[in-house]
Amino acid sequence: KRVAVLISGRGSNMAALIAAAKAPDYPAEIALVLSNVPGAGGLAIAESEGIATATIDSKAFPRDREGFERAMQAVLEAQRIDIVCLAGFMRILTPWFVGRWEGRMINIHPALLPAYKGLDTHARALADGAREHGATVHFVTPEMDEGEIILQEAVPVLPGDTAETLGARVLAVEHRIYPAALRMIATEYRLI
Ligand code: GRF
Repeated sequence: KRVAVLISGRGSNMAALIAAAKAPDYPAEIALVLSNVPGAGGLAIAESEGIATATIDSKAFPRDREGFERAMQAVLEAQRIDIVCLAGFMRILTPWFVGRWEGRMINIHPALLPAYKGLDTHARALADGAREHGATVHFVTPEMDEGEIILQEAVPVLPGDTAETLGARVLAVEHRIYPAALRMIATEYRLI
């Protein structure tokens, strides 16, 4: 399966997917890294790994979400992409785009969904006195951070944790479960 990873930033989850996909028995190839932010840190990492990159600057499509998504869709089709992985991709997607990729687009979220959808998950978990936190890989549906859960793993919240220390513990889990979840869906998913 040919996979595109969509990023907006540093791309540490993208890097974890690239590393995992090097295993000879891995059922997916990271064929493309696409950023909506010019110069996103992850682009340089992907380039240094010899992976094709594309930038579609979402700011070049003011108030034109559909135009932005049509541009992305054209690149994904030109690259014959089978599966899309969102990895720190900070754009909300329209039902049109999500529908094009139904069952073939997944996301990593830094919380134990359905708890803490949205942003600032670590600070919110700490503020609530949560004893457990974690990360979730799920299918993307038009509602943000909804969609069937593929894999989820918990970490403890420890005394003295800050959003940074808790976030680092969660990120280590993200880097493990995202490649595992992609392996699962790349194995099971059949081209329609
Ligand atoms: C991760 O915490 C991910 O769960 C969230 O955005 C962050 C992206 O980090 N959706 P990175 O770019 O993968 O390092």
